[in-house]
Amino acid sequence: MENQSIGYMNVPLPAGIDLREELNKLRKEKNAIILAHYYQTGDIQDIADFVGDSLALAQWAAKTTVDIIVLCGVHFMGETAKILCPDKKVLVPDLNAGCSLADSCPAVDFEAFVKEHPGYVVISYVNTTAAVKAVTDVVVTSTNARQIVESFPPETKMIFGPDRNLGNYINSITGRNILLWNGACHVHEQFSLEKILELKAKYPEADVITHPECKQPIIQVSDFVGSTAALLKYTIQSDKKQFIVATESGVIYEMQKKSPDKEFIPTPPNDSTCACNECSFMRLNTMEKLYNCLKFEMPEIYVDDAVQQKAIRPIKKMLEISEQLGL
Ligand code: 13P
Ligand code: SF4
Repeated sequence: MENQSIGYMNVPLPAGIDLREELNKLRKEKNAIILAHYYQTGDIQDIADFVGDSLALAQWAAKTTVDIIVLCGVHFMGETAKILCPDKKVLVPDLNAGCSLADSCPAVDFEAFVKEHPGYVVISYVNTTAAVKAVTDVVVTSTNARQIVESFPPETKMIFGPDRNLGNYINSITGRNILLWNGACHVHEQFSLEKILELKAKYPEADVITHPECKQPIIQVSDFVGSTAALLKYTIQSDKKQFIVATESGVIYEMQKKSPDKEFIPTPPNDSTCACNECSFMRLNTMEKLYNCLKFEMPEIYVDDAVQQKAIRPIKKMLEISEQLGL
């Protein structure tokens, strides 16, 4: 079912079309909702019904009553929405929007790793395929990972995958010794400590704010570490006027909107000739593809029924714990 023709994605748009107006018409006609991650471009964030981090997108998908969800994000986000809403149509503007972190954890290998460790609680980051979630006990996002880990007694044996950086960070702040899968996100691993130190010297008043998918040396020089939503909240609440932002640069759009008087400095990657602080997968989605996606109701996310029935349990568990914790 995933083998859909993707030629329509680039179907030329009717001449003189006002994309915002047309999208508003289409979503009303089709009883659809547009959800966007903070790493989408500003125009997509502006047209979305809701913009959020991975946890918020899953929470929103779980409660919506519409017929169609258009998930402007990457494939695993669409899959999570589909697992939660198997009877709804879930669309993503570009089916090629994958995730290097999810790709670093093939389901067959992860399942073998789980089988090698009987008696371990399996915690998976939401940045995983449906098949990995199907062999997981609880899903987490960077917003709730610490609290979910701490909801288990300290002596609990645990596996965490796939992000080794987030895993190391959780181990360091909780004092646990969780067994880690060796995966990473190509965007967050690219940030250069050297360049952050140069920026700190140039902007001595600025706070360095960092996503926990970054490597440990960067976390160590940071003033605040948190999920995309936590970083945004921090910039709103802080008295500081400048922030060096060590995560995908799309979130700066919302930061700047919420705090127009503050300055946000993106962190350059190691190789500053490339735009590696942008997630190339996230940036595959465009307004034009969003329009075609809602118009033609393609490409659609499909999840095998047996996998969906297994994968929904750890996602629901995450949502229940998050609700109890007020997250
Ligand atoms: P959050 O949205 O949970 O902060 O995760 C960041 C990310 O890398 C999404 O792919
Ligand atoms: Fe995946 Fe990294 Fe892109 Fe997030 S930023 S979607 S973890 S590749």
